[in-house]
Amino acid sequence: MGGLAVLVSGTGSILQAIIDYPIKVELVLADRDCLAADIAYNAGIWTGHVYRKDFDPIESNRIKFSAEILNYIREHDCDVVAMAGFMTVLSHNFFEGFHGITLNTHPSLLPKYKGKNAVRNALLRGEKITGCTIHVVTLAVDSGRILGQSRVRIRKDDTVESLHERIKAKECILYPKIIKHVLNSY
Ligand code: GRF
Repeated sequence: MGGLAVLVSGTGSILQAIIDYPIKVELVLADRDCLAADIAYNAGIWTGHVYRKDFDPIESNRIKFSAEILNYIREHDCDVVAMAGFMTVLSHNFFEGFHGITLNTHPSLLPKYKGKNAVRNALLRGEKITGCTIHVVTLAVDSGRILGQSRVRIRKDDTVESLHERIKAKECILYPKIIKHVLNSY
């Protein structure tokens, strides 16, 4: 069984679901101060920060940022990386240097609504169904091999927040299952 690193930036609901599944998490890395990092620390997981603000502007320093993330993952001997609401795109040196698999959960039914406003855009487009997608992370954002999807019906009175909460509830069920399956194959 492989070692798991989780990358976070947000409120940590998905990280919490991974911990509760239960799945052993070797390492959590955050790119900012966030609730997810507090959850990891309080759960006794080795928790580190690679502050994105230290690599400003990220557009010119993405390679250095990605190298730092890669260093931690190597030090902790992880072969599966799960992004869980991680908001920084990693560059080619990460994918060239990391020989395991990187997974992500995205709050839309990919290939529809890539990028960071996925929930808002599905709502604005008047979709009736959206959902979440678990996929392999590649250099091209939100475009790697799809490992699983869950559908969520959009209600007439939904706001971005209410819809995102129901999508997250689905992510919290599907993502840990897929992570466990992938870890078992390492
Ligand atoms: C999830 O919906 C994920 O798909 C998106 O950000 C959310 C993470 O939320 N990229 P949290 O930080 O786990 O609460």
